Amino acid sequence: MGKIKIGVIGAGSISEMHFESYKNNNDVEIYAVCDINEQRAQEKAEKYGALKYYKNYQDLLGDSEVDAVSICTWNNSHAEISIAALHAGKHVLVEKPLCKTIEEAYGIEKAVKENSEKVFQIGFVRRFGTNTQVLKNFIDSGDLGEIYYAKASCIRALGNPGGWFADKERSGGGPLIDIGIHVIDLCWYLMGKPKVKSISGNTYNKLGNRSNIENKSFYKAADYDPDKNTVEDLANAIIRFDNGASLMVDVSFTLHAKEESIAVNLYGDKGGAEIEPRLQIVTEKNNTILNSTPQIDALSFDFNKGFQNEIDHFVTCIKGEAETISTVQDGVEMMKILVGVYESSEKGAEISFD
Ligand SMILES: NC(=O)c1ccc[n+]([C@@H]2O[C@H](COP(=O)([O-])OP(=O)(O)OC[C@H]3O[C@@H](n4cnc5c(N)ncnc54)[C@H](O)[C@@H]3O)[C@@H](O)[C@H]2O)c1
Repeated sequence: MGKIKIGVIGAGSISEMHFESYKNNNDVEIYAVCDINEQRAQEKAEKYGALKYYKNYQDLLGDSEVDAVSICTWNNSHAEISIAALHAGKHVLVEKPLCKTIEEAYGIEKAVKENSEKVFQIGFVRRFGTNTQVLKNFIDSGDLGEIYYAKASCIRALGNPGGWFADKERSGGGPLIDIGIHVIDLCWYLMGKPKVKSISGNTYNKLGNRSNIENKSFYKAADYDPDKNTVEDLANAIIRFDNGASLMVDVSFTLHAKEESIAVNLYGDKGGAEIEPRLQIVTEKNNTILNSTPQIDALSFDFNKGFQNEIDHFVTCIKGEAETISTVQDGVEMMKILVGVYESSEKGAEISFD
């Protein structure tokens, strides 16, 4: 088998992590780039030595040399491009979120079933962080026992990136679907992926994007426009699972908070763990409570390593040497949760799943 030829669709910020990781993988060749912004596609193709660049993703998919694609476009095109890529016979790694709606999610799942010989992986990159993988080994060995409670919080005091992120039509929502998805999935994955039973959620559009704030910088999308913002600035939820476990979450693009913070914790009947901001495992021995800190290179999520592991895993799966740990079914379940939070908030009531 020669090198696997990769096409990257969407050549914006996060594509850099995909390109850099593919560049480090000896089994692949970065072969083609596509972006509706043709100049961006051309620049990335030149930077990473890709032979081809395209403005239209259908042209890239029509190129029979392409074996696999990374989809790094805005959320509103994930479903359309994923389905087209599968039917064009490509392996697919799609960025999170899987898509914007449940209907779209089922559409992708159907296309995956119809093309079952192709690898389909969703970019739940935090599953590939060293701290997550180390903790998973402890959990799988039973050190936490039955995990019945998880708590995930990701608060930005000021950090609505604007551009497409702030345009609900293109993003599907604000901090919940953009950053909440990472911490919700992290907990859900480590809890053993229990089936969601009910959700009570709240979203708030109270503070806007606070473009008036001075002397505090934050990441802005390339097409930042202070006049456009149609997404929530805060979301919170309590999610119940059919095994009795629960997950409490809050995430913000902006909030009158003292500072930025991230905190992700799991609690079981034998032990607990803090995953973010620093991995710690809490247990009990000889009538004493122990806080254990593993000696590993990165106690918090290591961005570069996480992406490298994610891409390497995708390539290993394409080679037929493993099954992906980040499946379309997981993406569908996550969409149920995210859409469920928005739905519950709109109704002002808890929503239940059969
Ligand atoms: N895993 C992570 O930690 C992480 C971090 C950031 C973003 N993301 C995800 O990556 C995706 C892209 O985010 P970003 O920050 O790179 O955004 P971005 O705006 O920087 O880049 C997106 C690019 O996609 C292009 N594009 C949009 N629609 C297209 C289409 N139909 N065909 C071809 N090109 C198209 C845009 O022109 C742009 O260049 C989003 O889904 C986002 O949720 C994931």
